[in-house]
Amino acid sequence: MSTKETKKKKTRQVWLNVLPDNLWLKVDKGVSIWEALEYTDIDITSDCGGMGTCGKCKVKIISAVDPPSAEEEDLLDQDELEQGIRLACRTKINHDMVIYTGEEGEEGDFLKILTTSHVITDMYIPLSQIDPLVDKKLVILPSDIQKDGLSDLDAIKQVLGPKYRDLRAPLTCLRKLTDRLKETAFQGTAILHEQWLVDWQNESKADCGYGLVFDLGTSTVVGKLFSLNDGNEVGVTSCLNSQSRHGADVISRLQYIKDHSRGVARMHQLLVSDLNLLTEHLLKTAGLTKDDIFVAVAAGNTTMQHFLLNLSPIGIAEAPFSPVLTDGLIEKAADLGLKMHEAAMLYTMPMKSGYIGGDLLSVALASGVAEQQDEIILGLDLGTNGELFLGNGKKLLTCSAAAGPALEGAKISSGMIAKAGAIEGVSYGSHRLKYKVIGNIKPRGLCGSGLVDLIAILLHLGVIDDEGLIVPPDKQTVKKLTSKVVKRNGVYDFLIVSAKDSGSGKAVYLTQKDVRALQLAKAAIAAGVETLMDELAIGVSDIDHVYLAGALGNYVDPLSTVRIGLIPQVDPKIIKSLGNAASQGAAMVLLAKKYWRKADQLAHFIQHVELSSRRDFNEHFIGHMYFPKQNAW
Ligand code: FES
Repeated sequence: MSTKETKKKKTRQVWLNVLPDNLWLKVDKGVSIWEALEYTDIDITSDCGGMGTCGKCKVKIISAVDPPSAEEEDLLDQDELEQGIRLACRTKINHDMVIYTGEEGEEGDFLKILTTSHVITDMYIPLSQIDPLVDKKLVILPSDIQKDGLSDLDAIKQVLGPKYRDLRAPLTCLRKLTDRLKETAFQGTAILHEQWLVDWQNESKADCGYGLVFDLGTSTVVGKLFSLNDGNEVGVTSCLNSQSRHGADVISRLQYIKDHSRGVARMHQLLVSDLNLLTEHLLKTAGLTKDDIFVAVAAGNTTMQHFLLNLSPIGIAEAPFSPVLTDGLIEKAADLGLKMHEAAMLYTMPMKSGYIGGDLLSVALASGVAEQQDEIILGLDLGTNGELFLGNGKKLLTCSAAAGPALEGAKISSGMIAKAGAIEGVSYGSHRLKYKVIGNIKPRGLCGSGLVDLIAILLHLGVIDDEGLIVPPDKQTVKKLTSKVVKRNGVYDFLIVSAKDSGSGKAVYLTQKDVRALQLAKAAIAAGVETLMDELAIGVSDIDHVYLAGALGNYVDPLSTVRIGLIPQVDPKIIKSLGNAASQGAAMVLLAKKYWRKADQLAHFIQHVELSSRRDFNEHFIGHMYFPKQNAW
């Protein structure tokens, strides 16, 4: 199939995200939800077998809802229709869709997890360039090849040719090899990883084989299943990182392992069981077994990758923040407790330092920054730690700035993670603020992108001044907001929604303290960017592209990031979201060997700038505490 045809085929498929299982299914555009769920283990009630007459196959559409069909108008009441309830057998999936199939009223418990990604360099790897980490070769052994007593392995080597002269096989494969050869009448598929024969399978398996990508987030773990034949993403699923019970961020988890002698083993075990859960879910949905998975690639921050490998990251807790290693590793997945084919390999991405992990290197890989010779790229992965890179293929710098949890909506009075009820976006029109709430329900709080948007708009309207003080507006045009600026404990706070209109029954405020927390976070990131700019001796106008990665990066309005001074005063048009670029970089490695080499080269090429010891960083930090006077709006 030509590249053009592949592209065409891809555009005819859309994603269906099924909550609360958080199952991501790639389906043909136009199929019904009922058809899409047919081969999953999601239970949809029905008395009519999908004929559209019983009215029992109700699901809630969380994303944009299309008008109801005639059957839905007949079988559902007005209240249900308004809430976005539809019949699975009557609703066609014509665009990416998020649905909820759990108990009514519990929608609030699911997370909005970023699992999509956009690659700037190549939107996908063309079929002709698919060269996965594991190879499969059809091997036909001539009937007389062993007449002189040639060993099974040597016979396979001989047919594979000189490239596999040094072929070896693990004992797990050798123990079954004689039987497998007989079962397949000496015509089979050799599964090869470098100079290792991983398995010998039936000839019919020649065009099968799958690989996994794991994005090891501190709060969320994402698993993606890929076909190693065509590079197609077959499924995506995610879950909360079970380590969260021992602390929300890396620092508290490092503290946990300091306090508990078996802390590292516990963290390793929790992470591995999450990855096994994701694997199981993906396999079940795709109708595969663990023996179909030959390889996996994992990317995460340095602490998370250490936990996966059962290594202690304790050195990262204190200066000089030294991890055990920064190399990318290739290990047997089974040795780490991962449930895949017994000889499957796990690749962990190379890292740069204690706070520049395999996730940032994956983002840099997906951004194509090292291929860029002339234009300057600024990449930001925004979270509790803001990780940045700046430069191009001539010189590339990276640093990590401790932004604190505000950008993730944590430690904010009405802050929350991006789940149902969180305000994720704010706009202003007709003298009113309009809130975009996840799940289209009453707001309960603000997540990171909502916080950034709200503060940017209030700055624009003069309700927050450039020093960060909330003040009653004096512009006539925004007088309607005056009643929202309320004095509490001697300072002004901004009332977002009253108790009556909120989903929690409690008023939602943006407090003066919240604005200060955001100022600290954005000042840390902006100071990090400025320090790297100084190192490269460039100005803001020299930056050609700004790429945002991570959950906040995907949902935040670029204009808002510039307005609050989180990002330098660039033209917002050059700011693009890379989505979940960490998993995209890892997927590139999975599907083409050249990217594993590139990731390694990138780790050596990129230069780490340690901010904690730099006086200029502290000066920039103080300078960026205020909001820009310039109104980018
Ligand atoms: Fe009966 Fe959908 S299954 S209406």
